[in-house]
Amino acid sequence: MRILTGIQPSGIPHIGNFFGMMRQVLDLQSKGETFVFIADYHAMTTNPAAEKLRENVFNLALDMLACGLDTDKNAVFFRQSDIPEVTELMWILNTVTPLGLLERAHSYKDKLAKGFLPNTGLFTYPVLMAADILLYNSTLVPVGKDQKQHLEITRDLAIKFNLQYGEVFTLPDGFIPDKVAVVPGTDGQKMSKSYNNTIPIFGAEKAIRKAVMNVVTDCKGLEEPKDPDTCNVVALYKLFASEAEVAEMAAKYRAGNYGYGHAKQALFEKMWEYFAPMRERRAELEKDPGQVWKILQTGAEKARAEAAATMDRVRRAVGLR
Ligand code: ADP
Ligand code: TRP
Repeated sequence: MRILTGIQPSGIPHIGNFFGMMRQVLDLQSKGETFVFIADYHAMTTNPAAEKLRENVFNLALDMLACGLDTDKNAVFFRQSDIPEVTELMWILNTVTPLGLLERAHSYKDKLAKGFLPNTGLFTYPVLMAADILLYNSTLVPVGKDQKQHLEITRDLAIKFNLQYGEVFTLPDGFIPDKVAVVPGTDGQKMSKSYNNTIPIFGAEKAIRKAVMNVVTDCKGLEEPKDPDTCNVVALYKLFASEAEVAEMAAKYRAGNYGYGHAKQALFEKMWEYFAPMRERRAELEKDPGQVWKILQTGAEKARAEAAATMDRVRRAVGLR
């Protein structure tokens, strides 16, 4: 079994990213060797400034290591662009990719609908993702629901390639747990960097408290009884608190004389405590950037050995050797 996933360095991770994706990876790493990479080539499809991209890559490395990605055990952690073979494989996969398959990709169509002026990189994004997955012979790919179609495209391309050139690629399966709920943002919609409604995992206490205090609620007064089942604050509290603690909060809601401000304060405290060990680890790691880059470099060396072996098979299969 080869577990693999990529994460785009596209800004400060929020609790939606943590519970929707990071936690799955952290849980899976106990089951076997797990490749995790920072998808910096993918992030380039939004044309970040060079300095910003570098900063985001470093911060994401800190975030993942602080959250518990264990590179001393099963995790192989690296930067996508440290393995340039992936772009060669992408080119080769491009030649078996029907245009229509990419034209039907939801994430591409969504971006078009939102008025983005697409570059070719955005259009061929799924082919690069297929190359990521197939290069390392991945069998299990933990991702969020929004990536399901990209995994299907990967399988389609692997099947097409294998049909034409022989059985070179292993077909990967997605790991998309249904039970992973969509985490609501401060406005009640899905939490997302693009909606400006996030609660970041790391950052200054004041900023995080402010984000929590911004969670929308209805406008019931302090003394009125409230409905815990429809309240965003309770939905978020559930991510951090035990069942008994959630039941206790629900009872206070129903009884009245418990304000949304109280609930938000309780949410903030739980969340602050939950991330405390990770925050401390992050602060430690941040003091030694050299160590962080070294971890990525060691990961890249491992990944590159695997990539080179796959590319050798691919080049032979297609007639480039
Ligand atoms: P964003 O929408 O904030 O830009 P990304 O698209 O970068 O997030 O998503 C990175 C990962 O985090 C994906 O696997 C995605 O499914 C997961 N994810 C993002 N937002 C949420 C959320 N609100 N609830 C659950 N999972 C989420
Ligand atoms: N497209 C993924 C996302 O936005 C990131 C990604 C790039 C990825 N390559 C991958 C995920 C390969 C899994 C496997 O979340």
